Amino acid sequence: MTAAIKTLWKQALNTFEERGNVGFKLCQKNFDKLRYLMNKITAEDVNLNKQILDFIQVQHAPMWVIDIFENKDFAISIFILKHGFTMPIHDHPGMYGFLKVISGVVQINNYTLKANEDHTIRLNKEVMALRHKPISLHSNSPACTLTPKDKNLHEITCIEGPAAFLDILSPPYDVDDSGKGPRPCTFFKTVSSSKLCTDSPDIVEEVKLVVIEGPPDFYSGSLKYTGPPLM
Ligand SMILES: [Fe+2]
Repeated sequence: MTAAIKTLWKQALNTFEERGNVGFKLCQKNFDKLRYLMNKITAEDVNLNKQILDFIQVQHAPMWVIDIFENKDFAISIFILKHGFTMPIHDHPGMYGFLKVISGVVQINNYTLKANEDHTIRLNKEVMALRHKPISLHSNSPACTLTPKDKNLHEITCIEGPAAFLDILSPPYDVDDSGKGPRPCTFFKTVSSSKLCTDSPDIVEEVKLVVIEGPPDFYSGSLKYTGPPLM
């Protein structure tokens, strides 16, 4: 039987093939199938075991990354956050993304920018965004998604950990997308917020965010992937 992670990877290849080409159009059917497969992925499918989680909990780095696959179209990785730590607000410029919790519990604040921004946003620039209702995700929760326009920024806190989630991002960070130049990850902090009268119960408030330098106390270690091979 084909390993679940291999089936997922093949579907990601179908969904995001030639992602960087001008005129790329996402096929909703493929995207939905990828989400369906993502929802079924477990810690066992990628060999994320107790030994790894116990090791991480006693390390200094607040976050650990296991890279599974990357080409110019998409990347699959596992992120592991230690208990009580928060991955600060950051963006995913021009990207589609899936996040599936496979261990522990995280709380996520999603933000949607009110105006389209360039792929590289300069330091200290202020942007307006809508903050969505926070969500808590555990290993039985469905994957959450982000798109180039919707919920493109998020802040992730581990409330029961270590918490691990599988991520698919397309295209990966820094890959030149349609000739618009490199796309680094930008970090933000909240400057001010105001309650909003809106018809959408999903939106909590309007916030002003400012671009900050990568937080020095938030760094990551990396571990080798030990799950089933993809090729
Ligand atoms: Fe992220």
